[in-house]
Amino acid sequence: MSEQKDIQHSRPRWHYSPRSTWMNDPNGLIHYAGTWHLFYQSNPSGSTWGNMSWGHATSTDLLHWTEHPVALWHTDTEQIFSGSCVFDATNSSDLGTADWPPLVALYTAHYLPGSERLGTQAQCLAYSLDGGSHWTTYPGNPVLDRGSANFRDPKVFRHGDQWVMVAVEAEHQHVLIHTSTNLIDWTYRSTFGPAHAAGGAWECPDLFELAVAGSDETRWVLLVNLNPGGVAGGSGCQYFVGDFDGTTFTPDRVVGTSLDRRPGPDDPTLRSYDWLDFGRDCYAVVSFADAPDGRRIVLGWMNNWDYAYDVPLTGGRSIMTIPRELELVPLKGGYRLRQRPIRELPGDALAHYELRAGDRVSIGGVALEYRNGVLSLDRRGAGVEDFHEAFGSRQWAEIPGNPDTVQVDVLVDTCSIEVFAAEGMVTISDLVFFR
Ligand code: FRU
Repeated sequence: MSEQKDIQHSRPRWHYSPRSTWMNDPNGLIHYAGTWHLFYQSNPSGSTWGNMSWGHATSTDLLHWTEHPVALWHTDTEQIFSGSCVFDATNSSDLGTADWPPLVALYTAHYLPGSERLGTQAQCLAYSLDGGSHWTTYPGNPVLDRGSANFRDPKVFRHGDQWVMVAVEAEHQHVLIHTSTNLIDWTYRSTFGPAHAAGGAWECPDLFELAVAGSDETRWVLLVNLNPGGVAGGSGCQYFVGDFDGTTFTPDRVVGTSLDRRPGPDDPTLRSYDWLDFGRDCYAVVSFADAPDGRRIVLGWMNNWDYAYDVPLTGGRSIMTIPRELELVPLKGGYRLRQRPIRELPGDALAHYELRAGDRVSIGGVALEYRNGVLSLDRRGAGVEDFHEAFGSRQWAEIPGNPDTVQVDVLVDTCSIEVFAAEGMVTISDLVFFR
């Protein structure tokens, strides 16, 4: 029990936040029958981490969310950790019928005392025949068990005539790839990692094909969240661009001589890797399955394990980032992710700035500065921050090309700021509990 008295702060306007409970990672993101589903790591009975279950909310525009009852409940012997959802359109799992195929969730069971699997994590399955409202756990669970203590966060997608699962051996900095034809029987195929940032646990991976802007080309993107060891300290999300042949992911570029190199959190080489975000608060980023029109939309948990337990309450504890749409852009012989807030966000929600070298603007007390090709954001002094010593901080990112001016789009909410710079080539996302 925390001795500290919780600080209450207003709920965000644009960002998903639970009304009264604890939230961490987004889980099971899927667009199904015209509705966006957001499941998430939830403590249904408290505002601190524990009793992990899947909370549930739905939306038709990714901005206005309806909260629903808990979708997957923890039990006395099992916590429900992160995972993903797919629509099994061909009923490959045989858990529905050809006319009535199921939604299937793959999640990690974290076993507790009383379980014969105590101390391990394994991948389990649940299915829904009513569009995600009610879920039945598969009686043959777990469906994939390596007897490992840190094997978790399955993200499943369809590729050709098979299902592919990426999941982590978190403490080994491995992304494991398995395939299946029925979502139940899984075959090991390959391992990626460690590579680039590996100074913490690898968590919540995602792998998807993505269009290169202005061409017919596509590449594959592997998101690897890690904690600690992120570029801004603590939790962060790095990515690799490469190729995927159905069983193996091959990165286009790996900096450094060995895949085994494991730079620590303050290693300057962290800056030579690819980061989805350069702020403190963008973690467990994963994408929606089956987004229409070929869109690739990601959502992150807007928090950092460095201080997540202590952040002020905003109704419940924690918020999600604004959903972002991704594409790839060619850069220096490689590719870079470009992110924009989803187009459903009204244009006037964003403030636009043009910063010349040496410029500094204050946004509600947050200092945004551009100098020597580096964009920095300093949240110290802009809001409530004395709840944790690690919270007051300044983040920075190099702007590619080092131009004289940089265009910046900023989304400010009651407790956050998200900066999309240089047409979304650089993002910096921070909680700020504005006074
Ligand atoms: C990431 C994470 C996951 C795990 C979940 C537990 O924040 O540690 O690896 O599944 O949170 O809540």
